[in-house]
Amino acid sequence: MNKIQDVRQQLGQHSHHWLVTGAAGFIGSNLVEALLKLGQRVTGLDNFATGHRHNLDQVKESVTQEAWTKFNFIEGDIRLPANCARACEGVDFVLHQAALGSVSRSIDDPITTNDTNVTGFLNMLVAARNAKVRRFVYAASSSTYGDHPDLPKREDVIGNPLSPYAVTKYVNELYANVFGRTYGMETVGLRYFNVFGPRQDPHGAYAAVIPQWVAALIRNQPLRINGDGETSRDFCYIDNVVQANLLAAMASPEAVNQVYNVALNERTSLNQLYAMMRDLLRERFPHVDGHAPQYVDFRRGDVRHSQADIGKAAALLGYAPTHRIGEGLRQAMDWYVHDLLKQDSRAASE
Ligand SMILES: NC(=O)c1ccc[n+]([C@@H]2O[C@H](COP(=O)([O-])OP(=O)(O)OC[C@H]3O[C@@H](n4cnc5c(N)ncnc54)[C@H](O)[C@@H]3O)[C@@H](O)[C@H]2O)c1
Repeated sequence: MNKIQDVRQQLGQHSHHWLVTGAAGFIGSNLVEALLKLGQRVTGLDNFATGHRHNLDQVKESVTQEAWTKFNFIEGDIRLPANCARACEGVDFVLHQAALGSVSRSIDDPITTNDTNVTGFLNMLVAARNAKVRRFVYAASSSTYGDHPDLPKREDVIGNPLSPYAVTKYVNELYANVFGRTYGMETVGLRYFNVFGPRQDPHGAYAAVIPQWVAALIRNQPLRINGDGETSRDFCYIDNVVQANLLAAMASPEAVNQVYNVALNERTSLNQLYAMMRDLLRERFPHVDGHAPQYVDFRRGDVRHSQADIGKAAALLGYAPTHRIGEGLRQAMDWYVHDLLKQDSRAASE
């Protein structure tokens, strides 16, 4: 039995109380769903800054009625210490996802990004410490590698941050480390690399590339590629991220107060990604054959290439990704086709 099967079995036998912050967001709602399916008790905290109620409605539809009774949602803001304290009451494990994502958003509005990602993070750490939670697992980011040229990225070799967002995510790691040393807290940071999958928001100026492109391809709308398309990323399907969170929460004490890369150790260029997505949509949407991207300027704050060394997560957490990019894209695409067509037919009937 591999490590994640073992952890799932353990969780199936014992119910714990989890707090998922950012529960109405993409990654948070997938974590809530996975935990409820494992019979866990879950509190969700979100202020709907970028998350949506319909994400929680979908979770409700995908779990049993009994599982749903074990979910308690608090609408609240992590920038307010009292909200964090209330959410942490009686909690065993925190999976802290709430933050403002997007490099571009942080360049446009560094103050709100800092308030949420740094002050909000610190509020959550203090609340978790006061509530004596067993472990605090948090969403860190590959942006922490900044301008360091080495590939694949190893956890202990980082460069200078390239955006306010990257600064905030690095500060999270520094605070978590200090809370480990100073207050004896158990924390684990997961440096996610370009996560994608169902419920990632395709709308808005700061949407991530995969959902934005699926929407543009299906609706036959213009699609822009920043730069020459040879920028590359280690795209990571959501199931791998859920796995890493469960492993981090249940890992043995030697593995705590550290950070881990969460991705695949594979690199896909934006041009390759575009071609893969078109191939997957061709049968259902033949118009994609006539679709072509527009190449525009490189984006400020973007790193050129990204690829994770996942050896540390494999060795200390037992992390073994189950979905490579092709498999993940197929599953995500099925979900987007269904969801976007549903939205379009609702809009047409209004
Ligand atoms: N998606 C990725 O590729 C990726 C990569 C690296 C790191 N991350 C990190 O993973 C986490 C989750 O990202 P996501 O992709 O699910 O984004 P998301 O925007 O879908 O989810 C973030 C959630 O946090 C909530 N939130 C924001 N500000 C809040 C506040 N002040 N109080 C309470 N809730 C608040 C939002 O409403 C949203 O539901 C973030 O910390 C992000 O920085 C994501």
